[in-house]
Amino acid sequence: MSAYSSHAPSAAAGLGCVERWYCFDSIASTNTFALELAEGPSADQLFVVTARRQRRGRGQRGNTFLSDTDTGLWVSVVVQLADIGEHFAVNRALALAACRAAGDSAEVDARIKWPNDIVVGERKLAGVLLESVSGAPGRVVAGLGMNVNTAREEFPVEIRPIATSLAAETGRTFAVTALLSGVLTAFDELRRTDGRHVHEWYRERLCGVGRAVRIGEYAGVFGGVDEQGRARLVCDGGERYFSSGPMRFVN
Ligand code: BTN
Repeated sequence: MSAYSSHAPSAAAGLGCVERWYCFDSIASTNTFALELAEGPSADQLFVVTARRQRRGRGQRGNTFLSDTDTGLWVSVVVQLADIGEHFAVNRALALAACRAAGDSAEVDARIKWPNDIVVGERKLAGVLLESVSGAPGRVVAGLGMNVNTAREEFPVEIRPIATSLAAETGRTFAVTALLSGVLTAFDELRRTDGRHVHEWYRERLCGVGRAVRIGEYAGVFGGVDEQGRARLVCDGGERYFSSGPMRFVN
């Protein structure tokens, strides 16, 4: 862990909804730090952890998430759940908040690819990683990694065709703190909004409904996502529901 500051952020910075902001230059993973924080007794408010760089950023299914210095928004939020079944609602709110912040800052049409990706067209802009806090069942850590200022040619060759950033989409660069503020303000607002409305907005932002997909060993047509966060796959034998991905588009 390297130098960090921890403070109550000012409302003027657009972070009025945040109780405490832990701000690192370099850290292994903001999610890992936030998980440790969330075990503590006073994590019942909105705690936020950011870093300019992650040395071992973590993605879905044990993947490494590339998080170079100042190229993106690497943030984790400790969230107190109102009830234990609320995991998907947190995921949904953070994914939508990321789409809104990207749209407001960079005018890109960011969409949600179930279950955890934010895409522009067919390329991945951001990913969400939700983790339960062992020992505190009412809390989760919600992590978001968004590529902001990475130029197209700076992505490693193997992910260059499938990754994007706000800079690669627009030819401009962006202040990461302004994006952080946009994401957290939208996240806080969405968490306070009736889940039926939020789900409607989520469905409008979902990509790929009606397309041929594969989920695990099953192939079919993607029929959207229900209010529990399950993907509906319409296949020959009827329909199946899936709680986890990944989902792959078939051509
Ligand atoms: C994925 O697309 O696989 C999810 C990526 C989640 C990355 C973010 S970056 C901030 C937070 N800290 C981590 O180690 N991971 C999440």
